[in-house]
Amino acid sequence: MDIQEKTALITGGTKGIGLGIAEAMLAQGMKVMITGRKKTTVNEVVKKLNKKYAGNILGHAGDVTDIKSQKAAVSALKKEWKKLDVLIANAGVGHFASIEDLTSKQWNEVIDVNLTGVFNSVKASIPSLKKTQGYIITIASLAGCNFFARGTAYNASKFGLVGFTQAMMLDLRPYDIKCTTIMPGSVATYFNDHTPSKKKDAWKIQPEDIGQMVTDLLKMPARTLPSKVEVRPSRPPGS
Ligand SMILES: NC(=O)c1ccc[n+]([C@@H]2O[C@H](COP(=O)([O-])OP(=O)(O)OC[C@H]3O[C@@H](n4cnc5c(N)ncnc54)[C@H](OP(=O)(O)O)[C@@H]3O)[C@@H](O)[C@H]2O)c1
Repeated sequence: MDIQEKTALITGGTKGIGLGIAEAMLAQGMKVMITGRKKTTVNEVVKKLNKKYAGNILGHAGDVTDIKSQKAAVSALKKEWKKLDVLIANAGVGHFASIEDLTSKQWNEVIDVNLTGVFNSVKASIPSLKKTQGYIITIASLAGCNFFARGTAYNASKFGLVGFTQAMMLDLRPYDIKCTTIMPGSVATYFNDHTPSKKKDAWKIQPEDIGQMVTDLLKMPARTLPSKVEVRPSRPPGS
């Protein structure tokens, strides 16, 4: 697939993995819309990217838990660029606590954003992706196949997302829509209130590495689909 001039919607593109994917796509000549919850944050990031990639970057403020905002994002993208080729369902959050301490509010937020949020962005995009024989990539996690203490909500959301993406892949391949779930280990991002440090987080996967993985996936021959991709730091501390 020649990816130049392809358009993409990335949920949660204001920082971290979503921003890394946006920058990798823009560097390859793609047109990208990023989303995030706050208009001011989205506008700031778009302004920065615009300096290098004017005309190829749009922003849309909206919460993935609101299907109307996801439909509005797709409409705004298509108003500008006429078609949607790629959806990256990336937005996600985590709350980590023992099941005894995990609150209903935390449980609901993780499930609403990480699972229902993906459902919403997918539902909003399918009619457009059918027209372009497009591509949906969900950002799951190694927490979607490895469980751990204090991980009930996050594990449930990511195990669920891996299952969701694989079933969706079977539903959509008759339309030549490809679906892949990427399952990263530790990535140097702002996830869970972390502030990435160049030195301390050097062993982790960097957001631009996931960006490279995404653009490589998009370039695979039409006949071939890596449907589930695990990716981890090569040398985590202590190994
Ligand atoms: N970091 C890791 O080690 C790691 C490993 C495996 C998988 N992941 C997954 O990677 C994805 C991205 O996380 P990250 O590590 O890049 O974290 P991050 O640096 O905290 O970025 C999260 C992004 O999601 C957006 N977001 C959060 N809730 C949202 C909502 N309700 N609606 C719209 N946007 C929302 C944030 O935008 P605003 O804050 O501007 O709203 C931000 O752009 C998540 O699904 C996460 O589970 C991360």
